[in-house]
Amino acid sequence: MLYKIKLLILRILGYEKPLRVALFKYLSLKFKKFRPHYETVLYESCKVAKKLGHDDLCVLELGVADGNGILSLIKYKRIIENELNVKIKVYGFDLGSGLPEIKKKEDLPFFWKQGDYKSEGFEKLNNIKDVKIYQGDIKNTILDFANSNTSKIACIFFDLDLYSSTESFLSNINNLEKHLLPRTLCYFDDLYVADNCVDNTNGELLAIAEFNKQNSNFQLGKPVDHLNDFKFPLAKGQLYTLHNFKNEQYNQYIGIYSPDSLTGSNNKIRSLLDD
Ligand SMILES: C[S@@+](CC[C@H](N)C(=O)[O-])C[C@H]1O[C@@H](n2cnc3c(N)ncnc32)[C@H](O)[C@@H]1O
Repeated sequence: MLYKIKLLILRILGYEKPLRVALFKYLSLKFKKFRPHYETVLYESCKVAKKLGHDDLCVLELGVADGNGILSLIKYKRIIENELNVKIKVYGFDLGSGLPEIKKKEDLPFFWKQGDYKSEGFEKLNNIKDVKIYQGDIKNTILDFANSNTSKIACIFFDLDLYSSTESFLSNINNLEKHLLPRTLCYFDDLYVADNCVDNTNGELLAIAEFNKQNSNFQLGKPVDHLNDFKFPLAKGQLYTLHNFKNEQYNQYIGIYSPDSLTGSNNKIRSLLDD
């Protein structure tokens, strides 16, 4: 017991981020529908989509499990719809039976196992307006979604845990092209689990690296760690931009000085409330 207390003290003293951030993270783990990262990523993505002239939008969560992420997105989308005057549909993708059989070493069979995160069914979620959970292997359901969706994808939350499943989605990006904006914010949930050796040789990071190697029209870009990173609490280091270079709006100017900017103009002093 004393030894464990000593380790705890070492962890607290050696922790490099402000402890208020640790507290914030703890609150998001304790209250599973409190997700400031989901809210702010969705908000900023919708703001940009609106600047590009799109107001019929959707958000994807890849990996739904018991639905807490989807429920938080439903809560936030209602607020953001009012705030920005846009429509947002919420789409989830999940097997329902938990993690699939894990065969590849890149899927970390020593850490994940088949059946983890088994869901109790998606009927309740599917009965909520503007929500649909595509049940089945994402390598198939992504095509069902691509064939039936009519809105632009504002942002994507990746939480499939496994290299193989993340790769299955990313290798289908071509099929989503017409639904994508020039740039799409992507949050990856499983980039860091150091003591379980989640790193760039496996999992999401490996799927991202391979995706970037295999594609030229699409790239997943990662911003540097920067002092100005204030917009996305709890998403630090986990946000990528999916660049869709061939998108006809890729070079369209939507900077802060554009006449229809939501956030600023030459004559207006920008504030933290705006941008
Ligand atoms: C960690 S859970 C998701 C948790 C959820 N995002 C949340 O925040 O509450 C991971 C989920 O990914 C799903 N999954 C993994 N591989 C999949 C695949 N190939 N197709 C569909 N779903 C998959 C599993 O069924 C599991 O429920």
